[in-house]
Amino acid sequence: MMKENKIKIVAVGMGGRGSWGVRELSKHPDFELVAIVDIIPERMDILAAEYELGEIAKFTTLKECLKAAPSDAVAIFTPDGTHADLVEAALGAGRYVFVEKPLDISEDRLDRIIDADRKAGGKTFVGLNLRFTPVYTMVHELVAEGVAGKVLNIQADEFYSGGRTYFRRWNRLESIGGGLWITKACHDFDLLYWMSGAEPKTVYASGALDYYKPRADVAQTCRDCHLNDMCPDRYEAWIGRGSLADRLNSATERATGQRRDLCLFNSDKDTLDHGIATVTFSNNVVASYALTVVTGMDNRLMRIGGTKGTIEADVGAAKITIRRRYPKGYEEIDLSAAIKGGHSGGDERIFRQFASFARGESSQVVRPAEAVMGVRIGIAARQSTKEKRIVDFK
Ligand SMILES: NC(=O)c1ccc[n+]([C@@H]2O[C@H](COP(=O)([O-])OP(=O)(O)OC[C@H]3O[C@@H](n4cnc5c(N)ncnc54)[C@H](O)[C@@H]3O)[C@@H](O)[C@H]2O)c1
Repeated sequence: MMKENKIKIVAVGMGGRGSWGVRELSKHPDFELVAIVDIIPERMDILAAEYELGEIAKFTTLKECLKAAPSDAVAIFTPDGTHADLVEAALGAGRYVFVEKPLDISEDRLDRIIDADRKAGGKTFVGLNLRFTPVYTMVHELVAEGVAGKVLNIQADEFYSGGRTYFRRWNRLESIGGGLWITKACHDFDLLYWMSGAEPKTVYASGALDYYKPRADVAQTCRDCHLNDMCPDRYEAWIGRGSLADRLNSATERATGQRRDLCLFNSDKDTLDHGIATVTFSNNVVASYALTVVTGMDNRLMRIGGTKGTIEADVGAAKITIRRRYPKGYEEIDLSAAIKGGHSGGDERIFRQFASFARGESSQVVRPAEAVMGVRIGIAARQSTKEKRIVDFK
């Protein structure tokens, strides 16, 4: 594909992430958004109006779209456990694929994607956007240059207050999102894998649902709850009435009857609200990851300790600190000027890299064979949490 030709792309899944995707792709210099797909037609109408897409072609299945609308690439923004079917369909029709993290949620579905990608000659790019944030990209470069020496430990922490809203969305159900160790933690497990530079060997994880447990004093939905005006977790505290997200959620409620304001406490869920996982890698790097959605702060922090020094990353502050052992040294790197857009700058860079990938140019890319590792660690963490034992990858 020539540089001057725009890549004709289809976007699938008009939800939270799809809103970002449609907004960016519809004005991106490398792409021409030629069609949108969603199982709920009203969601396509809402985003087409919001982002002034005019008479863009709309389809309720990707298969129909692939037959009717000529395109070069497909970008997939649907719930986690739907990815394999859509990736297979797009690759089977000869398209390049951008697919959101996690690649999918079970071993057999991951294998199906790897297989389809191999048969297609390697056309899949996985949207693990944290690898593209300037802070993590630089930490990875520093590790590769040997600044920390031989890496021994990696500690990663995630505090995410917005994660509580998972408990009224599909992410609360293992059958669709795999549970928080997958839908959420796959990002961070992927970073541990990437930074360690080795295959995972064992996982031990503990976690629980301790705060967002059922409560007898509140209702099933915010609209029916006597505490609605004062509850910090109420639907409207997160999603303003009439906002884009509220209009999308209302469309789904009209089409399916799924209530958009489920109580975070009383919703049916089968995952956890906090936990810690320890992962060992085949090169003896030992890593830990702490996750909580019951928190007043929002940040990711990472500390890498090695034989020559320590590298600390504060993603929210866009700051890296290096402490050297011999001779003793201290250095701070401020990357705040490099951060533009969501996910600490990762979102802004990722479609440019995907365009280069689809044109066969050199690019930073995460391929399925790599992206499965974060999910596999997540699957093992879920098993370890349930069975209260170390899970060995052998
Ligand atoms: N990279 C990131 O930082 C990041 C951030 C948020 C979400 N995500 C990922 O993006 C994906 C979407 O998440 P979301 O929060 O936007 O979900 P969402 O529920 O807001 O939106 C999903 C959309 O997909 C549609 N859909 C479902 N099945 C479909 C199918 N088979 N064909 C076509 N449309 C279908 C739904 O109707 C909905 O409009 C998930 O994989 C999620 O993990 C990634």
